[in-house]
Amino acid sequence: SLSVREIFRNSNSYFDQTIKVSGWIRTSRLSKTFGFIELNDGTFFKNIQIVFDDTLHNFKEISKLPISSAITVEGKLEETPGSKQPFEIKATTINIEALSSSDYPLQKKRHSLEFLRSIAHLRPRSNTFSAVFRVRSLVAYAIHKFFQERDFVYTHTPIITGSDCEGAGQMFRVTTFDMNSVPLKDDNTVDFSKDFFGKETNLTVSGQLEAEAYALAFRKVYTFGPTFRAENSNTSRHASEFWMIEPEIAFADLEENMALAEDMLKYIIQYVLNNAPEEMEFFNNFIDNTLLDRLNNIVNSEFGKITYTEAIDLLKKSGENFEYPVEWGCDLQTEHERYLTEKIFKKPVFVTDYPKDIKAFYMRLNDDNKTVAAMDLLVPGVGEIIGGSQREERLEILEKRMEEMGLNKEDYWWYLELRKYGGVKHSGYGLGFERAIMYITGMSNIRDVIPFPRTPKSAEF
Ligand code: 4AD
Ligand code: MG
Repeated sequence: SLSVREIFRNSNSYFDQTIKVSGWIRTSRLSKTFGFIELNDGTFFKNIQIVFDDTLHNFKEISKLPISSAITVEGKLEETPGSKQPFEIKATTINIEALSSSDYPLQKKRHSLEFLRSIAHLRPRSNTFSAVFRVRSLVAYAIHKFFQERDFVYTHTPIITGSDCEGAGQMFRVTTFDMNSVPLKDDNTVDFSKDFFGKETNLTVSGQLEAEAYALAFRKVYTFGPTFRAENSNTSRHASEFWMIEPEIAFADLEENMALAEDMLKYIIQYVLNNAPEEMEFFNNFIDNTLLDRLNNIVNSEFGKITYTEAIDLLKKSGENFEYPVEWGCDLQTEHERYLTEKIFKKPVFVTDYPKDIKAFYMRLNDDNKTVAAMDLLVPGVGEIIGGSQREERLEILEKRMEEMGLNKEDYWWYLELRKYGGVKHSGYGLGFERAIMYITGMSNIRDVIPFPRTPKSAEF
């Protein structure tokens, strides 16, 4: 049978021909002697209209089919000038593939996103989530395409790891113990030497450290995989399990790092605009009516750039009544990020050179000894979507930073060794995949851009 995508994309070659499609009933309208079915086959955002009448031997049965029943239709594709839809299939036979129960929860009305979240197994059949998850797939593809076209090597970094890349201690523990008899040491702490892995292991918070090792072999690499953070923050932008893209480039400084991030983001936005026009129009009509203007502007303009110190000055002078007052040295809160991107720049903006005390141990210390060569990309509506830096390649300074931050150097022996053997300057960043999807679709909750979200207190599916 033909896919509905193929029919919509090349309808001219099918007019007045007999074709066959299989799909699920989205809606139907009936009168005594004929009816219309909006059929969705999953390959295309839009439904195809089926017309049928009482010349079908099973007309009565078809008329009574509940929404979400699956059918196979054979009939002629006919143009319908002047109607809402450009064409329809005039059915000659309709076979029932699967009968749906009439208590199907997705009826023909607009359901709230909260309700749809509670049926995560069915929501991909709704318009909104059909659009979100096809765009998610396209963005993933565009990211691979972008990096592969630029000769980056796709590197698979481990999910189970002994090191805490971000040093924030927000990790999910991995153990192989029998939970009824966890081995203890004399001081009653857990004896990890008895674990299958022989040491304390966790789910990775970032593949960066391993990506650095591969960048010093392949020059340009990227990771794209799931990462895990056990932060107990119940916000619309944090998930316990999310996907991250982490390019890492040898011989690159912070400027080149930012240029790559800007090129990448523009590339994937343009790719989605070109390849998912129906979905993007839907988001613009029903989710955020400034979306298409905004995205089209972004691909044609330069991102903003400001240092952390300048940003703090701007925020202090803003006259805004922030919930968290700003002082040099504080982390930027959502309200500050929003002010910078939505009131000042009105476009994506890189904030660079943060105080060393609020950033991770691996970032390169600047000559002022107070700030590091870090960059965050903030975007209107979402806030931080990228965090990156030039890495500290100087062994003594890196060791000193680790000591200051209370990290155990033995745990990072291989990472430190990279600095001894041709450890040139290098840089990289991490793009939060779900945050990118939020930005591109206008969806405002991270739970609505990942199929089965994992957030504190929610792992029902
Ligand atoms: O800023 P982060 O913590 O940076 C790193 O992990 C670096 N190792 C990346 C690198 O330089 N290779 O995380 C990077 C991005 C953030 O900007 C954000 O978009 C996303 O990952 N992110 C989250 N997304 C969803 N839920 C969470 N809990 C997230 N934490 C970070
Ligand atoms: Mg960050």
